Amino acid sequence: MTRSLLALLVCVAILHGYSSGPPDGKTGRPGEGTCLDCHSGAGPADSTDLDGLVGGWYQSDSLYPLTLSVRYAGQLRWGFELTVVDDSGNGAGQLIVTDSTNTQYSPAAPGYLKQTSAGTFRGTSGPTSWTFSWRAPAAGTGPVRFYWCTNAADNNGSTSGDKTCRDSLVLAETGVAEPGTVTGRRFWRYANPTRDRVVISYQGSAGTPARIYASSGRLVRSLTPEPDGELLRVVWDGRDAKGQIVPGATYFVRLGEGIDRVARVELVR
Ligand code: HEC
Repeated sequence: MTRSLLALLVCVAILHGYSSGPPDGKTGRPGEGTCLDCHSGAGPADSTDLDGLVGGWYQSDSLYPLTLSVRYAGQLRWGFELTVVDDSGNGAGQLIVTDSTNTQYSPAAPGYLKQTSAGTFRGTSGPTSWTFSWRAPAAGTGPVRFYWCTNAADNNGSTSGDKTCRDSLVLAETGVAEPGTVTGRRFWRYANPTRDRVVISYQGSAGTPARIYASSGRLVRSLTPEPDGELLRVVWDGRDAKGQIVPGATYFVRLGEGIDRVARVELVR
């Protein structure tokens, strides 16, 4: 009799714990579990997006406001857990709570950001998003990986009928993927540094535009590559999308999806 009462109390305590945020270590990072350990169904990775990290790289010590979103037709309650690690699996930079009503931070290594009870947006049909910030780590940290797992739940107060959607994102440190230091460099030819015209020939997919970013991460210009024999070629006249001449500085040209597809260009005026 006493034992079953104790078991019931423990059970109630555990359930109470979960509704105030998921347990640590469920982001889908290698070696970790996911929300699927307890919640019933898997959903596709394209149900969730992490926005605010343009270009596939980060600038050390910079502050990035981020938005994590999830959508799933028919679901009515929402949750997530996110972490960011370096190559050694240590927490990379700092995850910063900017909306303490809806998100909370758990310092258990490597550090987790997750929803609060209010942040499950109970009874709403989504898409749902949470905002927070990330302070990028010190120079020399190298590539970092974000891992996150979202739960698009059905608001039935149990783990059945829910959809777990997981995804991850790799970011290179700016300056790491420079010509001469990356595996893809044999595909590239540069006129660099340059005064008024930047020509880059490379092997890639004609359907993917070349995107030029300032070192702050701001998109400056998007260019459609033209065929150049077996290669593709982009010619940048040093102007932004409005036709304004951009100042002499370092720019990054993203030629494709991989982190080895970012070329650094010095524009000299
Ligand atoms: C160890 C088991 C366990 C894991 C792992 C787990 N949960 Fe849960 N979760 C529960 C239980 C049990 C409930 C139901 C009781 C409650 O609402 O507190 C629940 C309920 C929820 C609910 C409310 C669902 C509804 O339909 O009412 C959300 C949202 C949620 N969890 C998010 C998450 C997210 C996001 C993750 C992964 C990052 C996660 N959970 C991982 C056990 C777990």
